[in-house]
Amino acid sequence: MPKIAIIGPGAIGGLVAAWLCQNDRNDVSVCVRTPIRHIHADTPYGSFEAHPKILTEPSQGEPVDWVLVATKSYDSDKAAAWFEGLCHDRTQVAILQNGVEHVERFSQYLPEERILPIVVQCPSERTEPEKVCQRRPASLITPNTEAGEAFAELFSRTKIDILVEDDFLTLAWRKLCLNAAGAVMALTLIPAKVAHNEDAAKIMEGIIKEGAAVARAEGANLDDSVVDFVISTYQKAPGDSVNSLHADRVIGRPMEIDLRNGVIVRLGKKHGIATPYNEMVVALLNAIEARG
Ligand SMILES: NC(=O)c1ccc[n+]([C@@H]2O[C@H](COP(=O)([O-])OP(=O)(O)OC[C@H]3O[C@@H](n4cnc5c(N)ncnc54)[C@H](OP(=O)(O)O)[C@@H]3O)[C@@H](O)[C@H]2O)c1
Repeated sequence: MPKIAIIGPGAIGGLVAAWLCQNDRNDVSVCVRTPIRHIHADTPYGSFEAHPKILTEPSQGEPVDWVLVATKSYDSDKAAAWFEGLCHDRTQVAILQNGVEHVERFSQYLPEERILPIVVQCPSERTEPEKVCQRRPASLITPNTEAGEAFAELFSRTKIDILVEDDFLTLAWRKLCLNAAGAVMALTLIPAKVAHNEDAAKIMEGIIKEGAAVARAEGANLDDSVVDFVISTYQKAPGDSVNSLHADRVIGRPMEIDLRNGVIVRLGKKHGIATPYNEMVVALLNAIEARG
């Protein structure tokens, strides 16, 4: 019976923990910052309640086979405080966060070969402290490695699809381009329907093209057709869809600015690629965040 600890019972961690509990072969714990008693999940397949073990202090952690990190990226250092209790020298740590720097973010705490990056395609939100709502079918993308295959096994008997992919790097950058363009919604405070506005779509195009250029320099196989993919994805989404950057801005929470746009600027500099659209986005969002 694999022992699994999920750090962070938010929209993604709460939902993933709830689904993992549906597989009675798993022994599931959830590491929380704010105490909860259980998790209620509303999903496209029905609602259910899950009762993982709840750990409220890193000192309560006992060694497990798998740790799944599902905090926001800016809480990564505090999340890592759980590793000492949870990890033995073979524990695999899957990072369920957006972006393309999953391994870099945690390599100061763990050997890189024990870190498994995961691309999360799982539109969900935490509607109450103990309640998560999954809006559509979910999938998690993992690299095609032995650890990726073992990760997929944890989700058998659940309704979360695990896609084991040979070209993980390209898929991670494709998702990053989608997230990076979402900054237009966070800046305008207009949901996905803003992608139908020609001028706003032009700005999204600039953001995405810079992301694709940096992606290629990093070794991803991404051409400029990603522009149409991203803009049409937003245009086809329900007009009132709100991405997490936009949602975080609205409720005054920190935004994952560096993970979504800052990384394009930083890696652009490394490769000598100009990224003026993303630089502007980062500057404006940082100014908004600094205002509080
Ligand atoms: N939500 C989505 O639809 C979605 C889709 C794709 C990707 N993602 C990505 O998935 C990642 C997680 O996002 P999310 O939406 O699930 O965030 P979230 O709803 O804000 O959940 C984060 C959770 O982490 C907890 N946390 C923070 N620090 C902690 C610590 N030191 N120890 C234990 N728990 C801690 C928070 O605790 P509190 O309960 O105290 O706040 C919260 O429960 C992000 O990188 C996001 O971009 C999200």
